Amino acid sequence: MVSTKPLIGEVYYPPETIVRQANLPDYDAEHQAMLADLAGEWGRIAREEFEWFAPWKKTLDDSNAPFYQWFVGGAVNIVHNALDRHLRTWRRNKVALLWEGENYDQRSFTYHQLAREVCRFASVLRAMGVNKGDRVTIYMGRIPEIVVAMLACAKIGAVHSVVYGGFSVEALHGRIEDSASKVAITSDGAWLRGNIVPLKEIMDEALQRSPTVQTVIVVKRTGQDVHMEPGRDLWYHDLMKLPIAETCIPTEEVDAEDPLFLLYTSGTTGRPKAILHTHGGYMVGVATTLKWVFDLKEDDTWWCAADPGWVTGHSYIVYGPLLLGATSVLYEGAPNHPFPDRWWDIVERHGVTVLYTAPTAIRGLMRFGDAWPNRHDLSSLRLLGSVGEPINPEAWKWYHRVIGKERCPIMDTWWQTETAHFMITPLPGTPLKPGSATLPLPGVQVDVLNEDGDPVGPNEEGYLVITAPWPGMLRTIYGDPDRYVQQYWSRFPGVYMTGDSAKRDEDGYIWVIGRVDDVIKVSGYRLGTAEVESALVSHPSVAEAAVIGMPDEVRGSVIQAYCILAQGVEPTQRLIEILRDHVAHEVGPIAKPATIEFVDKLPKTRSGKIMRRVLKARALGLDEGDLSTLEE
Ligand code: WTA
Repeated sequence: MVSTKPLIGEVYYPPETIVRQANLPDYDAEHQAMLADLAGEWGRIAREEFEWFAPWKKTLDDSNAPFYQWFVGGAVNIVHNALDRHLRTWRRNKVALLWEGENYDQRSFTYHQLAREVCRFASVLRAMGVNKGDRVTIYMGRIPEIVVAMLACAKIGAVHSVVYGGFSVEALHGRIEDSASKVAITSDGAWLRGNIVPLKEIMDEALQRSPTVQTVIVVKRTGQDVHMEPGRDLWYHDLMKLPIAETCIPTEEVDAEDPLFLLYTSGTTGRPKAILHTHGGYMVGVATTLKWVFDLKEDDTWWCAADPGWVTGHSYIVYGPLLLGATSVLYEGAPNHPFPDRWWDIVERHGVTVLYTAPTAIRGLMRFGDAWPNRHDLSSLRLLGSVGEPINPEAWKWYHRVIGKERCPIMDTWWQTETAHFMITPLPGTPLKPGSATLPLPGVQVDVLNEDGDPVGPNEEGYLVITAPWPGMLRTIYGDPDRYVQQYWSRFPGVYMTGDSAKRDEDGYIWVIGRVDDVIKVSGYRLGTAEVESALVSHPSVAEAAVIGMPDEVRGSVIQAYCILAQGVEPTQRLIEILRDHVAHEVGPIAKPATIEFVDKLPKTRSGKIMRRVLKARALGLDEGDLSTLEE
């Protein structure tokens, strides 16, 4: 809880003007209301802030924990709340989505225009045989059609599975196959730093490995020639011209617990797993947290500079801002293209009021110096945000001083694909400590536990856990409920394991340290060691592989790989390059190992598990720790 004593350490107090206008002025009152009656308070918010086709019978059903259910029996659709209901108000003609291409193309959609586009594409999807509950894979760059496609799926009760456009053949194939999608949506290519990422080509190669997809809808963005498979591939713009696309269709009434989307993410071991989120709880959690934390008002121009293909984009480019009736900015390209002031130029030209990004981007732009941002008028900014990994105090202070001109508090938001929305984060009025995500949101109950499951003392490191359910919580791992229980709820009974370690200081502030499992955060992107290792061993030259994350000043971590070569294969510099490219081709450029070392053996336990911890300790020159389980 917030201490009334003076806070310990380096503390930044928010300006009075920011505190005065906050959407949630009284943290303590809301927190107490949640503690007294968690379900009752979320029920009140859900009733007051959203429209339901039919009321729910039970706000929180915990009878089959950890398979918690929220708003049980309620009829709703997130698209009704994100689009349809705004059309009855003045917001109809307000900009919902403001898009800028890397080549400075601009397109904006009012709520009316976006709702219409979504309607038309939803009816196209129906005509293609997509029904309620069907999974649809979306693999695109940052263009408005990705938003349209997601919302169109949700509108008809279909389940979208967006695969980040930076992933490549095998990552895409695995996700298509696991979700058993019959329809996939992609684009001919995506612009990045003036180059074309050949998304359609990658899709074609992935589909050679996945027989489930019957229809591919292709958006034209870059205009280069692409192969169109007869009987399977159709152009988006052709379909949208057909009479069927003109028909406006009502938004499907779904159950609050019906699935909204799958999003694949890396976990402790094995292949990526599909985190499943639902219409009701996700909607309530995402919109409410955005309203509280970034204080969104109807006149805000909100820019979440993430990619729609990750959870940050799902929750805070697409659904959250539209649910709140705000204007959401989507930018296609790289932050430093054509110059390192591209972002600051966008902030200035569009009058962005709240900017939300990742520490890696801040560190990357910081390297170019203060002159680039200083050339721009950034006075429209009111609040700043950070997500994805712990932000180092140096980057925090630069962001605060050079971008926020010491006026804009920084919301360092801790959350996960699994949580769907912010969990530990300041509010606009919270005194800030650079590098700490500060306090859990009202209603969020977290703890830091030792190996035995007991809370640790102040400033001691332990497992970060969540001890009470929340509306946006993942419902399961799609197709693998046992893994859901085993992975998240088994270490300490009844307690959700985040996979992170953290400390809590004397003031109750949480300092997240990092992952304790085999997840590596490269530039804030979440990757699993297993996916990269299996890409390496899929190359005929490699017999065995292990990868670890090594600290990197800009990217947070980079991947270091160790490979045992197949018999008779020569360890050459050329082979290192071939293997790095092979990983980029299979998983994606972000997964490309920074270094590859050829070794004769890997440290393993007697049961044959690779001890990455030992590799990492050796690489960092640290104590190797307890080696009692090491073989030989
Ligand atoms: C890390 C991203 C420290 C953490 C929304 C978590 C953070 C993982 C922060 C989830 C933060 C995210 N401070 N660490 N503010 N935000 N993380 O699923 O390790 O891509 O478990 O979701 O990112 O990554 P994911």
